[in-house]
Amino acid sequence: MEVIVKENYEEMSKFAAQLIAEVVRKKPRAVLGLATGSTPIGTYKELIRMHKEEGLDFSQIVTFNLDEYVGLPPDHPQSYRYFMNEHLFNHINIRMENTHIPNGMAKDLKAECEKYEQMIKEAGGIDIQLLGIGANGHIAFNEPGSSLSSRTRIKTLTEKTRQDNARFFDNEINKVPKYAITMGIGTILEARKLILLASGENKADAIARAVEGPITAQCPASVIQFHRNVVVIMDKAAASKLKGNYPDTPAELRL
Ligand code: GLP
Repeated sequence: MEVIVKENYEEMSKFAAQLIAEVVRKKPRAVLGLATGSTPIGTYKELIRMHKEEGLDFSQIVTFNLDEYVGLPPDHPQSYRYFMNEHLFNHINIRMENTHIPNGMAKDLKAECEKYEQMIKEAGGIDIQLLGIGANGHIAFNEPGSSLSSRTRIKTLTEKTRQDNARFFDNEINKVPKYAITMGIGTILEARKLILLASGENKADAIARAVEGPITAQCPASVIQFHRNVVVIMDKAAASKLKGNYPDTPAELRL
């Protein structure tokens, strides 16, 4: 596990975008695993800049998002489909039909989850998966207590997560959906490379538990310690509770 501590959010975002761009350049048909939340917005901005200024080409890229709220239609401003269109897809040359987000409006949600797993498999698996982290240690919507080998399924959101996300729903927790479809921890671990991003002091506890704590379902993000190709990138505030000292550049660039 490579842990990189950048000076601030902007540096963190630029570095994450570079790692994704590297995969896109090397493999024009790469499968990207994408995330929502405030944390990856800067990374998406930088990828859009690279597309516009440097011609980074997404024309054959395929994407799968981690999760989606149950019950929000794609045109709801807080749905993850809307978020991805707004923050990335509408600004790059990706084909919309190559972008996949679980359908939280599906009549048969269980069948939707199975179909999603199948589509990832048929696309050849995920080359690089971007992840954020919840203040309670969740990844995607795998809340504490999630099976470490879980697959795409419906999860009930914890009170903490609904409170944290209420800021996007007029600060009214009752407006935050209670359920989500999420890739499982087992699904996420199958990606060939993982990038976990964290920014801000309110993530410092979760990051300390994920990076330096024991592997436990109580902190689903700690499972990244099992993965053989993972980069954790954070800003100084998110790193403030780590005991170890970590560099600002990966080993291969320091040699
Ligand atoms: C949300 C998402 C996660 C995200 C996390 C943190 O609930 N489902 O994928 O990583 O919470 O969000 P933020 O980056 O806004 O702090």
